[in-house]
Amino acid sequence: MLTHLRPTSLPIVILISGNGSNLQAIIDAIKNNALPVTIRAVISNRAEAFGLIRAQKEGISTELIEQTKYSTRQAFDTELQQRIDKYQPALVVLAGFMRILTDAFVDHYRGKIINIHPSLLPAFRGLNTHQRAIDAKVTEHGTTVHFVTRELDGGPIIIQASVSVSAEDDKTTLAERVLEKEHRIYPLAINLVAKGRLHYKNNCIYLDNKQLQKPLTYPPSNNDSA
Ligand code: GRF
Repeated sequence: MLTHLRPTSLPIVILISGNGSNLQAIIDAIKNNALPVTIRAVISNRAEAFGLIRAQKEGISTELIEQTKYSTRQAFDTELQQRIDKYQPALVVLAGFMRILTDAFVDHYRGKIINIHPSLLPAFRGLNTHQRAIDAKVTEHGTTVHFVTRELDGGPIIIQASVSVSAEDDKTTLAERVLEKEHRIYPLAINLVAKGRLHYKNNCIYLDNKQLQKPLTYPPSNNDSA
């Protein structure tokens, strides 16, 4: 038996609320043997999330936790935590999960929970980022993968990708171009964790045991070592 020689696969749980195109990008990367990861479950807080269908099509376990059934944020997060922990993931991946999480929940997964946000953080934390970028007349917009901490959209940044904003852009065209980048950088970031190259410690990120001084970029700049 050569099983011990097989590359190990990082167990992850993915949380979604909607379309799940980032989930799909992760599934596709796994299928292309570009991501040594096993998706143990996909959990949604919304019954209509199309991502649930994407997961079921691949035979991935799915769970629905309807937020309307929980009277407090804490009660919802406690249930969510129990459902996640059943699968014993090494990493929790927020992929369009549209909820603010309690401090207790975030602390429980410290260093083991990441998010993708549709802006070049720290610019445009929160919602409606594409319209806000257009209104602010920025020439560069983009997306960010970061570790999740108590501070909303404020955890240490792993990787960013930017797109140029033109005068013709509206929030739909901009969202489309940003999403394309999201689908590139999320599998890349997860891959670094899966390969044991990227760690979180004391609110800092370590890549190949060296503290990351600035976020990685996609496409990589000459100074990126990933
Ligand atoms: C993405 O833009 C992501 O950055 C944000 O929510 C959106 C989710 O899209 N957090 P999808 O459900 O992965 O298609």
